[in-house]
Amino acid sequence: MSRPRVLSGIQPTADSFHLGNYLGALRQWVAMQDSHDAFYCVVDLHAITVPQDPALLRRRTRVAAAQLFGAGLDPDRCTVFVQSHVPEHAELAWVLSCQTGFGEASRMVQFKDKSAKSGADTASVGLFTYPILQAADILLYQTDEVPVGEDQRQHLELTRDLAQRFNHRYGRTFVIPRPYILADVAKIADLQDPEIKMSKSASSPQGIIDVLEDPASIRRKIGRAVTDADAEIRADEKTKPGVTNLLRIYSALTGESVAALEKRYSGAGYGTLKKDLAEVVVDAFAPIRERTEQMLADEAQLDQMLAHGAARARKVAGPTMAAVRDRIGFLSPA
Ligand code: TRP
Repeated sequence: MSRPRVLSGIQPTADSFHLGNYLGALRQWVAMQDSHDAFYCVVDLHAITVPQDPALLRRRTRVAAAQLFGAGLDPDRCTVFVQSHVPEHAELAWVLSCQTGFGEASRMVQFKDKSAKSGADTASVGLFTYPILQAADILLYQTDEVPVGEDQRQHLELTRDLAQRFNHRYGRTFVIPRPYILADVAKIADLQDPEIKMSKSASSPQGIIDVLEDPASIRRKIGRAVTDADAEIRADEKTKPGVTNLLRIYSALTGESVAALEKRYSGAGYGTLKKDLAEVVVDAFAPIRERTEQMLADEAQLDQMLAHGAARARKVAGPTMAAVRDRIGFLSPA
């Protein structure tokens, strides 16, 4: 039996992925490369929906790819590629944008949030059509499952609607993908503001731990994480969000349940918990950082690995796009 196909994407917009990315996405991606036929994409086309410095974008695209390999994605067991290396993404996005209602696209809440930040008038049309490009990413590969966070649910709904609409209008062309919403344990909060998600755009540097961060800085940030005054090590999202977050991170990285941790640390102070947690995080990230640095030290080889990934991706994306061109009624070039 063939394995279900998965596809997911991550933007190359930071100098490092952070702990939330790692627990919420990367780690699951690594696990899925054996149970699934997995495609993972560094989405540079999505990155330019907001202004990017060209040299920095190129650098961050390599850093993102190197971290994916560093975290354990194996180019022999899955397909890792850069979105812009596969021109079918942009091509299918255009066709799908012509199947999308303007009102339908206008209901995407992530666009409303993001454009509200920059001011609706300065937001690009690309930011507006971002979810349609995401649908193209997914549908090109006849994807069965899309591992994403809860915040992507609406984009997945749009993707499914577009696939069904296209199949209905033009004949069966796309697999209808299912969201694979990553579990609650993976919900990592900001260390300084545990009411919000750890995120590149919303968190302060003190609230985020980067995968590539040096150990001294990881220890400092965890040591200064916001807790509460009652000094009891117990998970309670409502009244003790800071401590709950620390326990969740600990549990997610070690596999020990939150309940077991509560027991083990009962009577201990926050300082002890933080010290131990810092070592858990440092130990988890040290090998990833080391492998990432090795990969970045040989850019030619990294670029070769990405060329190999793109060639594999095009083998799937090419035939899908050829079918789309034919169904839509484009004259094939002689
Ligand atoms: N929008 C996704 C995010 O912000 C990234 C993404 C782009 C993606 N294309 C995708 C995720 C395709 C899953 C599948 O997390």
